[in-house]
Amino acid sequence: MSGLVDSTGGYIDRAIFTDQQLYQQELQRVLAPSWLFLAHADQFHKPGDFFTTYMGEDPVIVTLDKNRELRAYLNSCRHRGARVCRADMGQTRNFTCTYHGWSYDLEGKLVSVPNRAGYPGSFTVADWGLVEVPHIETYRGLIFATWNPEPVRLREALGGMAWYMDAMLDHDDQGTEVVGGVHKWVLEGNWKLAAEQFATDWYHVNVSHASALMVMTPSGKKPKDEIVHRTGRQYVDPMGHGAGFPVHPNNRFDARTVHDHVDYKALRERLGEARVQGPLTNGHATVFPNFSYLPVNGSIRVWHPKGPDKMEVWAWTIVDKSWPDEVKEAQRLYNLRTFGPSGIFEQDDGENWSEVQAISRGFITNGVPLNYQMGLGSERDDGSHPGTTSELYSDAAGRSFYRRWQTMMSTPAWHESPPPDTGNEDPA
Ligand code: FES
Ligand SMILES: [Fe+2]
Repeated sequence: MSGLVDSTGGYIDRAIFTDQQLYQQELQRVLAPSWLFLAHADQFHKPGDFFTTYMGEDPVIVTLDKNRELRAYLNSCRHRGARVCRADMGQTRNFTCTYHGWSYDLEGKLVSVPNRAGYPGSFTVADWGLVEVPHIETYRGLIFATWNPEPVRLREALGGMAWYMDAMLDHDDQGTEVVGGVHKWVLEGNWKLAAEQFATDWYHVNVSHASALMVMTPSGKKPKDEIVHRTGRQYVDPMGHGAGFPVHPNNRFDARTVHDHVDYKALRERLGEARVQGPLTNGHATVFPNFSYLPVNGSIRVWHPKGPDKMEVWAWTIVDKSWPDEVKEAQRLYNLRTFGPSGIFEQDDGENWSEVQAISRGFITNGVPLNYQMGLGSERDDGSHPGTTSELYSDAAGRSFYRRWQTMMSTPAWHESPPPDTGNEDPA
């Protein structure tokens, strides 16, 4: 591992984006033990409301049980392993496997087995319930879960990142809700290319998105200097999270209807000047490992790994619950136009990741390291924003992202620990 990531010197080996064995290890040591984003709490109101998603490559069902407790189960039948829920989302009383008909209730218990009499007396339904994800917690409406049997609490895992997340999630006491459905699309590209970019990369904006910025500029010609020559900060979290944001005294929501509605004075009182001038709407962020968001358009997304060279992007639009319907709709359309699957910015990003991925397969190419040296040594607590920050244009959060990745890749996960020594020697 030490040769793959040099976060002090700022080098990355391209094998971390292409190697199948590293990918398998990543599923086991990075994704399975981490808090992974599942869904927004607004998707669950009544018992039996469910949403199916993935944790790493493991399919899971998220649902509300009879007591309205959020639960998550491995979406795989205990009989021969088919998915017990093949719908994307919906409402149900139980999950019935379409292969041979085993059926599970909202608490994951096996409740119906066709030809039950055909099984031996030792067969007990209590032994064959769905595998439950051991920990599920929410932070301001965002639901995360982990397979780690003894994780740190979600709030602790988010650490200093929560202050930045609140700039999007905590505009008032009512919080956020989802508008529209979930957009899902496949990209050729390792999931880390996207997660890393959202953690650390404002650098690409003026080049990759130049044409989109021109379209967004009222003159229709060239983006104004104040857009191109921005200053700001980048938050560098020791646990691998990251966020970058220009700082501007007149920071605003881009969607006109949203801007006209928002009470910036109230936001200043609630969130403070530093957050309103920065991460309220500006910038990009990643919560390690694979959840990212964009405050300006309420885009939240998860980068599902699908092999070393492919990812599936799942993206939601969230809005303030308190906004009138027309403001919510304006934000939904603005997000669609900019960062929907065919959004004018989103397409630029996907194109870059696919480009990097496609050529990394070359034998010679794969051996040439990548540069992550921008802002090397710039990380500091300058008092402007909580925690360690760097310049807006910097790879600092990217280096931290990969440092965290490397640490987890080098650390055996809970499932790799030897079983506890019971003192009973096997006589054989
Ligand atoms: S695989 Fe589910 S009932 Fe057989
Ligand atoms: Fe971008």
